[in-house]
Amino acid sequence: MAETETILILGSEGQVGTDLAARLRSVYGKNNVVCSDIKPSDEAKQDLGPYEVLNVLDKESIKAVFSKYKPTMVYHLAAMLSATAEKYPRKGWDLNMEGMFAIFDACLEHKVKRTFWPSSIAVFGPSTPRIHTPQHCVMDPNTIYGISKLAGERFCEYYHEKYGLDVRSIRYPGLIGWKALPGGGTTDYAVDIFHQALISNRYTCFLKEDTALPMMYMDDAIKATIDITEAAPELVKIRSSYNLSGMSFDPKGLATEIARQQSGFTIDYDIDARQKIAESWPQSIDDSAAREDWGWKPDFNMEAMVREMLTQLRNMGVGAN
Ligand code: SER
Repeated sequence: MAETETILILGSEGQVGTDLAARLRSVYGKNNVVCSDIKPSDEAKQDLGPYEVLNVLDKESIKAVFSKYKPTMVYHLAAMLSATAEKYPRKGWDLNMEGMFAIFDACLEHKVKRTFWPSSIAVFGPSTPRIHTPQHCVMDPNTIYGISKLAGERFCEYYHEKYGLDVRSIRYPGLIGWKALPGGGTTDYAVDIFHQALISNRYTCFLKEDTALPMMYMDDAIKATIDITEAAPELVKIRSSYNLSGMSFDPKGLATEIARQQSGFTIDYDIDARQKIAESWPQSIDDSAAREDWGWKPDFNMEAMVREMLTQLRNMGVGAN
């Protein structure tokens, strides 16, 4: 993309936003990437570049931010994840859907060149084939988050076909990174486990030991996010959302690998409501369309991801006291 892009990230303080902002600022320069979230930025990040407090349900403020910065590319990451949305269904639906419409409409009005909106493995449901879940198959999500993401995918395609909005999307698996914590998701255990491993060398998991889910290291997720957003339009053939796969494991498998790299680590289990959500999702994903269409290929397997997580969190001082 041109060096003169102005990029706006909505939800930049979240798990994906934190990593995406750092990466985009290193590529495009800090002043060309405008970050925004509903809350003020983390103090430690305050000199990193322009920042706006912005609620994606507040159309006036959206208009003001779009008019001020005139973004050419927009990454809309603000959403309520699966477990929290089950607690606050109406709020989750409103934030995920109305927020999406508000940002898509602003992108159209301000002639934004490229828009990115993430979907999720939560679009699948109990009747979906669970192993190597195909790109196109039965989709019957039974969580508010999954229903909102499936509806959102349909609107991505609709806005592209009917209004010409060049929006791109991928179905994120559970994302594992060290820069920021996830909030309110079913796959959050796969991040928390590393913090607890370094703090106390043990972890109590809220999913059963054999609950396999698709997962991905954050560097791969950021690579996919930027690659699909910057791909030539003709390469992006699926205009709803692409399946994306990195690795698949269950809590027992992850704990075994952590124990291999950090001796003495142990896990036990205390199952909660998130188990039911996890059981409605795929165990592994067929992402051949993303590989064929725009050259997707992950770099991290489970072993490499565990090594990176332990090393980076240790460097940050987690568990040092
Ligand atoms: N990580 C998300 C969640 O657990 C799924 O996309 O809600």
